[in-house]
Amino acid sequence: MEKIESFEQYQQIHKKSVENPEEFWAEIASTYSWKKQWDNVLDWEFDTPDVKWFQGGTLNITENLLDRHLASRGNKLALIWEPNDPKEKFVRYTYKELHEKVCQFANVLKNNGAKKGDRICIYMPMIPDLAIAVMACARIGAVHSVVFAGFSAHALSDRINDAACNIVITSDGLFRGAKEIPVKRVVDEALNTCDTVDKVIVAERVGWMPNMVEGRDVWLHDELEKADKYCEAEEMNAEDPLFILYTSGSTGKPKGIMHTCGGYMVYAGYSFKQVFQYDESDIYWCTADIGWITGHTYIVYGPLLNGATTVMFEGVPTFPDAGRFWQVVDKYGVNQFYTAPTAIRALMAHGVDHVLSYSLDSLKVLGSVGEPINEEAWNWYHIHVGKERCPIVDTWWQTETGGIMISGLGSSSPMKPAHAGYPLPGIQPVLLDKDGNEIEENGVEGYLAVKHPWPSMLRTIWGDHNRCQKTYFSHYNGYYFTGDGAKRDENGMYRIIGRVDDVINVSGHRFGTAEIENAINRNEKVVESAVVGYPHEIKGQGIYAYVVCSDVESDEEILKAEIIETVVEEIGKIAKPEKIQIVPNLPKTRSGKIMRRILRKIAEGDTSSLGDTSTLLDPDVVEKIKEGAKLLE
Ligand code: PRX
Repeated sequence: MEKIESFEQYQQIHKKSVENPEEFWAEIASTYSWKKQWDNVLDWEFDTPDVKWFQGGTLNITENLLDRHLASRGNKLALIWEPNDPKEKFVRYTYKELHEKVCQFANVLKNNGAKKGDRICIYMPMIPDLAIAVMACARIGAVHSVVFAGFSAHALSDRINDAACNIVITSDGLFRGAKEIPVKRVVDEALNTCDTVDKVIVAERVGWMPNMVEGRDVWLHDELEKADKYCEAEEMNAEDPLFILYTSGSTGKPKGIMHTCGGYMVYAGYSFKQVFQYDESDIYWCTADIGWITGHTYIVYGPLLNGATTVMFEGVPTFPDAGRFWQVVDKYGVNQFYTAPTAIRALMAHGVDHVLSYSLDSLKVLGSVGEPINEEAWNWYHIHVGKERCPIVDTWWQTETGGIMISGLGSSSPMKPAHAGYPLPGIQPVLLDKDGNEIEENGVEGYLAVKHPWPSMLRTIWGDHNRCQKTYFSHYNGYYFTGDGAKRDENGMYRIIGRVDDVINVSGHRFGTAEIENAINRNEKVVESAVVGYPHEIKGQGIYAYVVCSDVESDEEILKAEIIETVVEEIGKIAKPEKIQIVPNLPKTRSGKIMRRILRKIAEGDTSSLGDTSTLLDPDVVEKIKEGAKLLE
């Protein structure tokens, strides 16, 4: 697979990919190893939707991640693991070693009753066993469902039940910065309300002695001792599921986004290579957690498909101090560094001295993902980290897209602060007006949609294809709708504005407002609530909750603490509202619809232009909410 090395070359390749997508993708797919060649490159329609890539082809993605590299890169480093505490020893695996680890773990799964097609939930900290567990599932054709280890027992149990998982892989506990968290205890609590799980495999990380349920729970290290070091890779159809990953939408429960073996592989590998312009001897580091899509595609799958050396980091950017990222970059000589704007903003707040203490000479490409990067953060990243010599790739994509859709390609594309830029080859984004008409010209703004399938697009929502159709394919006929609004400048570069639905993006993590409201409403003192996002200096958006309580006599601070506690129990600490305002009522239209527009304005602190409030059932309530909001500032 050749790298695109100039903007002219990019333009030619993109043009070719639009004129003949099937030929384009077949050529890329043929650079991977398949057990059996496909019959059809693509069958599709976006109404139902029904999208199939490389039908008839069979493969196992782990043979492409590992076995394929053994002859030429067996002794090359595949994975470097940097622990939370810099004083602890790091771990390094060559391709040969990683292959053996994955095979052995795959045998542990088999020995514990796992079969092709089973769903296996992985709820683990960022330790090497997490990456190995993901690949071990893929090796035997089981579908992994990784749940970020910051979610609560309740959220975990919902996800286990939704996918009917029969095995959970976890750890005794985890280290995050100065904290130690009992992970296994969360699993135990979750399993009180799950009846499909018959085995829990526990990796040792912190050295605690968790409660081990006889007949159900086993230690990974004991199981590994009994497991063979070779495991044949299961033959999978291109369209067989590879994994499920839950993400939030504007309504209802989180959705299990399903990706398939063949198409996901082709796109993960291709996009990694082009965006990061990876060279054979480079060291690449993505700071995400494997619990999110960024970690799936750009810590595990994309880099290893390319035979790259990928760094996996257990810790946080500010532990033991705000120079940690840069210390690790220098320690390993990292060439490509991929992080989120929220981390950049948090580090900016600690001052530039932490960056200036390190050389950062090895860096070649910097990446950003998860949320719009504001110009100030972009400039700081560019000047202080990239020393104005490293291109920044601002990568726009989603859990649903499987891989990066709009982004610069290393230094082969022009860059502009806060602009994601141009679509990758094979990607056909469009801007639509509110009636669903494509806006052809440049210098415009619209709803961001995609008009042709790409190999790593979601195929369905696990167990609810109808919801998949309704969420992504029914707003605008014949298009995949992203839920984002975007601008296209005079030169055709895209700038993502943000969500146009009721999804809030907090530190690059998605939450549905309805999901947080449902959590808040479970507190028995709460009558109803409305959640909106507001601009937050570090997190991008913060969560602002307006809550109507039955017990108005209670101490407000205690009430608020209880509400936060409920959200932490229902979803996890990551969804904690920053601001809670107890209000006498919510602004509603006569038909009972909450006027979120008004609540958003008040949360933003912009109360001068609330628009027409005369259609409200009780216009006075707006004044009361405005007064209360001032007290929160
Ligand atoms: O609103 C967009 C924002 O994150 C959403 C997708 O979130 P998730 O599925 O959790 O995946 C995040 C990591 C790929 C998008 O709908 N988003 C993601 N990347 C960017 C972005 N917004 C602006 N610029 C980006 N580079």
